Amino acid sequence: MKEPKQLNVSAIENGTVIDHIPASNLFKVIQILGLDSINNMITFGTNLESKKLGKKAIIKLAGIYFEDDDINRIALVAPEAKLNIIKDYEVIEKSVVVVPDEIRGIARCVNPKCITNFESVETKFRVMNKKSVSLKCHYCEKITDQDHLQIV
Ligand code: CTP
Ligand code: ZN
Repeated sequence: MKEPKQLNVSAIENGTVIDHIPASNLFKVIQILGLDSINNMITFGTNLESKKLGKKAIIKLAGIYFEDDDINRIALVAPEAKLNIIKDYEVIEKSVVVVPDEIRGIARCVNPKCITNFESVETKFRVMNKKSVSLKCHYCEKITDQDHLQIV
């Protein structure tokens, strides 16, 4: 007989569950969303098995709900993330992260000579590839790919 499905991280009563984060980018997601400086209860699991991603991470945030624009900031590092809104222990809404066409701030330009790296100019990129996100700098036109992605 098949074993019942087990929940790897405890269920939450109210809040947001961000699922299907690539395990290697968990801490980038934490940084982008500023989760290191909030007082709400956060639980996360990482290196969980995922058929799609190999190893995935999940973040559960009690009492926190995001605006679309805020959550789409993680598209850079977790383009396949799924959001679950929880009320009274039930999933009442599911949504996916949308990779925007343009990204301001968040990432650094890979080109050391780029103006954004030596003057206080906010970075601005056009998103070239939405699956494994790569960015073309508005100022120097160099491409910053996933392997060189650094969060500001
Ligand atoms: N979850 C939770 N607390 C709850 C309800 C759900 O933390 N009170 C989490 C689950 O652990 C799961 C996610 O929210 O990671 C989505 O829940 P559910 O839709 O029940 O799971 P699945 O059907 O597996 O989701 P998916 O759409 O990703 O297949
Ligand atoms: Zn640049």
